Amino acid sequence: MTTPVTCTARPSLALIKYWGKNPGPGVNLPATPSLAMTLDSIETRTQVRVVQTSNGNLGDQIVIGDEVQSPEAFAGFFQNLRQVLGPLIRANAQSFEPSVGEGPAWAFDVRSQNNFPTAAGLASSASGLAALTGACVASLLRPEFRTPWERALVDQEKSLQEKRTEPLTADSEFRELGRELPGFPGLPGLLSLSALARYGSGSASRSVFGGFTLFPQGSPVAHPLESADFWPEARIILVPLSSARKPVSSRIAMNRTRDTSPYYEAWVNDAPKVAVEAQEALKKRDEEKLGTLMINSYLRMFSTMFAAQPPVVYWLPESLVVIRLAAELRSKGLPVWETMDAGPQVKLFTLSSSVPEILRAVEQALPSVVPVVSGPGNGLQWVKESTL
Ligand code: DP6
Repeated sequence: MTTPVTCTARPSLALIKYWGKNPGPGVNLPATPSLAMTLDSIETRTQVRVVQTSNGNLGDQIVIGDEVQSPEAFAGFFQNLRQVLGPLIRANAQSFEPSVGEGPAWAFDVRSQNNFPTAAGLASSASGLAALTGACVASLLRPEFRTPWERALVDQEKSLQEKRTEPLTADSEFRELGRELPGFPGLPGLLSLSALARYGSGSASRSVFGGFTLFPQGSPVAHPLESADFWPEARIILVPLSSARKPVSSRIAMNRTRDTSPYYEAWVNDAPKVAVEAQEALKKRDEEKLGTLMINSYLRMFSTMFAAQPPVVYWLPESLVVIRLAAELRSKGLPVWETMDAGPQVKLFTLSSSVPEILRAVEQALPSVVPVVSGPGNGLQWVKESTL
């Protein structure tokens, strides 16, 4: 058994929406490009221990909060992880734990905690699968390689932001990325972690990075666009309206919408244009332009879902209360634009100076709701002490 490793990740909230193409284990390629902000105030904390499986019957074990998870839900993720890391480990045995050098005879013991409701449309799969990826990979490294590797990843994020690399287009290209981390031949770099996370959840590819990210259409990896300090005034106010597990998973919703909604193609064809304009708006920190595009993006996504058979409807009456409230505040000149994901919660994009007024208005409209305010946050971080 190796020493446990703990990694944290934060949800990447899509300002422009991702929709998976053939979503399912290992095939979460974006049908639509997304542009997201990683949030700073809510997080997933995941601890992983590698255990040897010499008796041949010990599989991966995943516990989120107090709930033991069904291994099938994570099977595609772990299968891909082993397939990709197996050859890396064999070729770079000096950097990895001796016990894992022999190949797939090891399993992951995972404990994870969210400081927000799981599977309720608050992007828990984004932060959850990103933290799981970071913790699993680090848990396979020898302790003396872990800290320098983590530091090298921080430098790599900065250089990726500067370089704005073109998106890679095929998984085969990703497999070359294992050699990408400068100074650490053979150890996976951030783009590799992003691609590994995608096998668990598309939006998790983005949460590997902090600040503002782009997950291009058809790309196996997300890209860091701007760091968290690029736009320190940017805020997302999460308005949690229900902590119930969503009735239809985003994966089912994606497949059903693709197969039955007559508007699907129109939406997917229009989305890249919206994403390009959103990148331009982000570069200029033009909140009004970005906010307007955000509204186009989520309403086009939901209109497509409403037209599916059977229709996919995540909204609650209170969702509409917040949507209308945002419109009313905008008409009074406040900078506030809403978005929603696969769940009833509404997320408001604004700037720090307007947060108090928006919170007052939300409280007046929905007194029992407790909003959560986030600025731009960090990507993966490994923590020294393990508290899980
Ligand atoms: C509507 O990442 O949850 O929130 O890849 O099937 O796990 P899977 O989907 P997921 O998709 C999120 C979809 C969305 C929009 C977004 O976050 O971009």
